[in-house]
Amino acid sequence: MSSQLQHPMLPSASHDEDARQSFVRSFKIHLFGEITPGNRQVYDGEVKPKYKREHNREPETRREIWKEMLQNPYYQMYSSLKRTQQELMWDSSGTTTRRTYDGLRKKASKIRSAKKKLGSVRTDPNLEIPRYNALVDIHIMPGGYHTDDAHDDIFAGAWYDHAVYSYATGALGPKNDDMGHTVAKYVKDNYPDFKPKRILDMGCAAGQSTLAYCEAFPDAEVYAIDLGAPMIRYAHARAEGLGESVHFSQQSAEHTDFSDGYFDLIVSHIMFHETSNKAVPNILRETHRLLSKGGRMVHSEVPAFFKYNTDPFNQIGLEWEAHFNAEPFMPTLYAMDMVEKSEAAGFKKGSVKDTFASSGKNEDSGQITINWYLLDGEK
Ligand SMILES: C[S@@+](CC[C@H](N)C(=O)[O-])C[C@H]1O[C@@H](n2cnc3c(N)ncnc32)[C@H](O)[C@@H]1O
Repeated sequence: MSSQLQHPMLPSASHDEDARQSFVRSFKIHLFGEITPGNRQVYDGEVKPKYKREHNREPETRREIWKEMLQNPYYQMYSSLKRTQQELMWDSSGTTTRRTYDGLRKKASKIRSAKKKLGSVRTDPNLEIPRYNALVDIHIMPGGYHTDDAHDDIFAGAWYDHAVYSYATGALGPKNDDMGHTVAKYVKDNYPDFKPKRILDMGCAAGQSTLAYCEAFPDAEVYAIDLGAPMIRYAHARAEGLGESVHFSQQSAEHTDFSDGYFDLIVSHIMFHETSNKAVPNILRETHRLLSKGGRMVHSEVPAFFKYNTDPFNQIGLEWEAHFNAEPFMPTLYAMDMVEKSEAAGFKKGSVKDTFASSGKNEDSGQITINWYLLDGEK
C-alpha cells in the first residue's frame, strides 16, 4: 500500500497515531477480503432459497431481501464490524487532526491573507446549507462537511483529507486524487482536440480531485465549489501548499453566481450520491446553464448504478450505507437514469451517455483499479 503524501496542510500523525490508523486500515482490508464474501454464502445458501420457497420466484429487488439479511447472525456480525471500523476511522484520524489543528489553522490563515497567492478563496456566510447536507453527518463524520465554528475554521477539511486516505484504504493514491486523474485522462483520451479554458469542479470537498485538472490542463483556469466553508478554506490552503492555482468558492452546485456559459468543462466526483431527489435535476440544469456551447460535463460516481447491478444481492450494500453509514440518498441515486435526467435538464437527446473509466494517474502504482461511472455530455 502507498502512503499518503505529507503535504504542508496535512495533519501529521505521531508514531502511535499512525500505528492505530494502520490497524484501522488493515481491519477494513480484512473485513473486505475475509468477512464480506461470507455474505454471498448467506444469501445464496439461506436467504434466496427461503424467499423462493415462500414466493415461488427468485427475489428481484434489494428491498425483498434486506430485512431477511438483517435477521441473519452472520450479516449482523459483518454489519457491526463494518460500522465499528468506520467509527474507528473517524476517531483515530480525529485524534491527529485535533492535536495538530492550531498550527494548521494558523498556517491556513497566513496563506489566505498573504499578498502573493496562486488562486483565491471566498466563503458565503449567508449560504443556506441544504437539508440533505445539514441534517445528516454524512458517512458518520461528526459535524459533517459544513460545521463552521469560526471565520478561520478548517477543521472539517483537514479531518476529511486525513481520514479519506484510510476510508479508501489508500486506493485513491498518495494524494487521494485518482478520480480526478481518471476523469482528466478520459477527457484527454476521448476528446484530444478539446482544450477547456475554464474548468469547474462541483462538490470539491478538500480539493483532492480538483488538483488533477491543474496538472492535466495547465493552461486552464480551475474553479471549485463546495457547500462547506471549512472545506473550501482548507482546500485553498492545501492547493497553495501544493503549488497549484484554484479559485475556490462556497456555493451550492444547484445555483451558483457564475454567468451563463462561463465554463468549458464541468466535473464532479462522488458528489451526487450525497444530494437529493430535488438537487440532482437542479445541479444538472445548473451544469447545462454554466457550460459554453460545445462545453462538456463529466460527472463521476461510484460504479453502483442498479441498471448495471441487477442482482439484488449486489444492491444491498447501498441499503447498508443508507441505514448504517448515514448515506440516505445512495440507493435512490443509483436507481436513477442519469442520462434521462440530463436530457430533462436541457442536454440534447443523444448528447449524453453513461460510461466507465478506470484509474488514470495511479494505474501503475499497484493500487486496486476502480472502474468509475461517468456521466459524459456535450452542450
Ligand atoms: C464525497 S465528497 C466529494 C469528494 C471530492 N469531490 C473528491 O473528489 O475528493 C461530497 C462533497 O459534495 C459536497 N456537496 C454536496 N452537495 C453539494 C452541492 N449542492 N453543492 C456543492 N457541493 C455539494 C459536500 O459538501 C462534500 O464536500
